[in-house]
Amino acid sequence: MPASVSIQHLDKIYDGGVQAVWDFNLEVAPGEFIVLVGPSGCGKSTTLRMVAGLEEITKGKLLIDGNDCTVKPAKNRDIAMVFQNYALYGHMTVYENMAFSLTLRKENKEIIHRKVMAAAEILDLKSQLNKKPKQLSGGQRQRVAMGRAIVRNPKVFLFDEPLSNLDAKLRGSMRREIMLLHKKLNATMMYVTHDQTEALTLADRIVCMSMGRVQQIGKPIELYESPANTFVATFIGLPPMNMFEGRVEGGSFKCSLFDYPLNDKQREKLKDYDGKEVILGVRPENVTRSGPVKLLITNNENLGMNTLVHGKVGGKKIVICKFAEWCNYKPGDEIGIGFNPDMTHFFELPVQEFDANGKLVNEIPGKAIR
Ligand SMILES: Nc1ncnc2c1ncn2[C@@H]1O[C@H](COP(=O)(O)OP(=O)(O)O)[C@@H](O)[C@H]1O
Ligand SMILES: [Mg+2]
Repeated sequence: MPASVSIQHLDKIYDGGVQAVWDFNLEVAPGEFIVLVGPSGCGKSTTLRMVAGLEEITKGKLLIDGNDCTVKPAKNRDIAMVFQNYALYGHMTVYENMAFSLTLRKENKEIIHRKVMAAAEILDLKSQLNKKPKQLSGGQRQRVAMGRAIVRNPKVFLFDEPLSNLDAKLRGSMRREIMLLHKKLNATMMYVTHDQTEALTLADRIVCMSMGRVQQIGKPIELYESPANTFVATFIGLPPMNMFEGRVEGGSFKCSLFDYPLNDKQREKLKDYDGKEVILGVRPENVTRSGPVKLLITNNENLGMNTLVHGKVGGKKIVICKFAEWCNYKPGDEIGIGFNPDMTHFFELPVQEFDANGKLVNEIPGKAIR
């Protein structure tokens, strides 16, 4: 049976006083695939390591399958963790690596054999069992690392950037394998990555973090279509959302680069913001081919199945996903563009917090105006 994980108000303050995680809360349902995503240093690994028991929990509570694990030693939590660097034993064969934790537990040899063979079958490693890790490709090594986790039949699987050492093509195929693995095992998984594509494709729910704080928790489509703030809006989605700073005034969004008339729905949404500074955000695929915003096309970037149009509005660079109907435009062309009003986002301005020495300690992203 897959386990639930309840993470309640977790803080982590490292020796020396650095607070890496602030008030982390998450209820993971049995069998759920959770992805923690955010830029390097935002506290993803620290959070995962607290769940694993590899890092002490400074404050808060952790329940696995209803049992309080806040101070339980890692080895008693019944979880398995897969790391970026594989952490395989070089002198052992693939078989021995996968069997290792069970051998340590002095498990019956036949049972070990059955479990290792079952994992090797799932991971397509049956022909590699007698090899040493150095004879394997990066992808195969990562599969062995996963096999080592599978044989333990843990309550929860934890992954910390397991694909970051692989080249782009292999990352794509391993991503699909992990997806299938999750389906086959029906296991609870928590997966850390800085890669928003991995988050969008793998997760049942994404936890998006910045500067030690959770910014939004939700289904991939929710974060993509309704980002809670400016951080999530620009971190999720590639190329990122185009953002313009301006002011709501007399039924328009006005910035130094253009005046954009708001429709009734948008005016209603922004009724408390008249005269105030806000940010308008629009994803590259939601830019339309006519409107009051003057765009100078600077270059096209052909990605095969679609093309990115790079241009400038005033001095500001923006990106548009170009489909067939944009094909006639060339660098140097000046056209009027607009924004699909149903897909245009508005945000409050971010607020920066500094300490007594003027060092930036937190940036509170601008909240979505809904
Ligand atoms: N052992 C440690 N001691 C002190 N600070 C640490 C330690 N490990 C991580 N940190 C700091 O905690 C913050 C979060 O790190 P980490 O959880 O590794 O982020 P991520 O995995 O998102 O890249 C960073 O500022 C990092 O420098
Ligand atoms: Mg990390």
